[in-house]
Amino acid sequence: MDFFDVVKERHSIRAYQPQAVEPEKLEQVLQAINRAPSAGNLQAYEVYLVTDAERKSALWNSAYNQDFLMQAPLILVFCAHAARSAERYQKRGTELYCVQDATIACTFAMLAATALGLSTVWVGAFDETAVREIIGAPQAQRPVAMLPIGYPAASPRNRPRRSLDELIHRV
Ligand SMILES: Cc1cc2nc3c(=O)[nH]c(=O)nc-3n(C[C@H](O)[C@H](O)[C@H](O)COP(=O)(O)O)c2cc1C
Repeated sequence: MDFFDVVKERHSIRAYQPQAVEPEKLEQVLQAINRAPSAGNLQAYEVYLVTDAERKSALWNSAYNQDFLMQAPLILVFCAHAARSAERYQKRGTELYCVQDATIACTFAMLAATALGLSTVWVGAFDETAVREIIGAPQAQRPVAMLPIGYPAASPRNRPRRSLDELIHRV
């Protein structure tokens, strides 16, 4: 799919079919994540791949019962890993770069999934402590985004955006 078609086709989908994601497609998504830029190329984030029903159910619970988390065949959890960035960038690495690294990686996963005919929705509303425990991440890692991936069981909705005139400030 052409890049601009991918951008146009990506919509948040909040209902999924039980159908599994093909291993080749998952591999392509994971490779795309690993191509994401990061501050100093330090890749100050970790990605957890969740497929088992018990953990998905726990994640659903940690994310205030957003049902699609249980429906999606897999969930990627992106954690900022401050120490990796702090080594070179100290406070800026800890407070900013590691979170940016993790969220750019999540964006790459979203777009790659769309290009492969899969659907996603970015999930930011969750209890970080609970998520860390469920995925078994150490205290030093901060879960910043979850991304359920699967085949859609709902039609996409085109949500409105601000106008470019309002959004872009030509200074
Ligand atoms: C940082 C962030 C956090 C979000 N958290 C949630 C969430 O917890 N639950 C949810 O259903 N959607 C969540 N979304 C998805 C947005 O609601 C969605 O992207 C927005 O409404 C625009 O719709 P679209 O993605 O279909 O263009 C989040 C998106 C972002 C970028």
